[in-house]
Amino acid sequence: MRVLITGGAGFIGSHLADLYVAKGDHVTILDNFSTGSKENIAHLSGKITTQDGDIRNVDLVEKLTKEADLVLHMAAALGVNTILESPLESMSTNITGSEVVLNAAAKFNKRIIIASTSEIYGKNPKQPLSEGDDRVVGAPQKIRWTYSDAKAIEEAMATALHTQSKLPVTTVRLFNTVGPRQTGRYGMVVPRFVQAALKNEALTIYGDGTQSRVFCHVNDAVTAIATIAATDAIIGEVFNVGGSGEVSIKALAEKVIATTESQSLITYTSYSDAYPAGFEDIQRRVPDISKIKHSIGWAPTKNLEAIIKDIAGI
Ligand SMILES: NC(=O)c1ccc[n+]([C@@H]2O[C@H](COP(=O)([O-])OP(=O)(O)OC[C@H]3O[C@@H](n4cnc5c(N)ncnc54)[C@H](O)[C@@H]3O)[C@@H](O)[C@H]2O)c1
Repeated sequence: MRVLITGGAGFIGSHLADLYVAKGDHVTILDNFSTGSKENIAHLSGKITTQDGDIRNVDLVEKLTKEADLVLHMAAALGVNTILESPLESMSTNITGSEVVLNAAAKFNKRIIIASTSEIYGKNPKQPLSEGDDRVVGAPQKIRWTYSDAKAIEEAMATALHTQSKLPVTTVRLFNTVGPRQTGRYGMVVPRFVQAALKNEALTIYGDGTQSRVFCHVNDAVTAIATIAATDAIIGEVFNVGGSGEVSIKALAEKVIATTESQSLITYTSYSDAYPAGFEDIQRRVPDISKIKHSIGWAPTKNLEAIIKDIAGI
């Protein structure tokens, strides 16, 4: 099988490339290396085809899509810092770029999986969050919500193309996904904490640390994506993909320090000091993963301690 992975030099995309190469499939990566890196895929040199390019390049995306049997659309602008610092470029990639990729898949009638996000649900206080739950987001002028809005538009385009043109698309809403190769540069909390702990530097919590998340190991997430991609019965559906075991950010920091046997201390800083204007945090975000469990029998396998050890390389 020939698999096209947009954003394949990124964190999740490169793990997907590993999975499909291991299965003996031919993988082509399309990436502009904005947040992705050559190091993420260096070990696959000679085993994959790499195309340095942008998902907004219609001719290039159509050419690569035509050659593929399966498209995994992972390319996006993400990370709180990226979204707040480059809002227009981020919206362009996430809206226009996704439209180009979806239209190409529709034109050549290719199976496609799109990576959406738990950010879709915004600040909906209902927990755990199920696929049919409402989006509750702030005003458009609060720029952090543009990532959620863009992904919602992408999902809506996918649904419309499925309805109107029978596009064989399935949407995965990834909750906090973590593991090796994820960079802390763009505001992701787990790599940021682990890197600080390994250097015995302070772990800085933004806010009071009572906000909570559920983390999923990237190996579990890519298994979910590949299983979904191989299951035609769930074309047109939307699935939460997330871990189990809610943890506060304060408890996460303590767990990282204990697991890495670090001398680090925990410090606190306000959101206004940590982020540019326009940031608003979400207090809790817990996935309801019963739909994917029942549909394809997937469940996360790695707990938080295993995840931290894997990221720390210990
Ligand atoms: N990591 C998470 O916790 C998480 C959670 C929810 C959703 N997601 C989604 O999963 C997907 C992969 O995320 P990730 O964590 O691997 O992030 P990442 O930043 O590591 O990967 C994104 C990749 O897309 C590439 N890219 C960005 N703009 C591009 C463009 N215009 N043209 C071509 N390539 C471009 C980047 O260079 C990078 O390699 C994204 O769609 C993201 O929104 C991730």
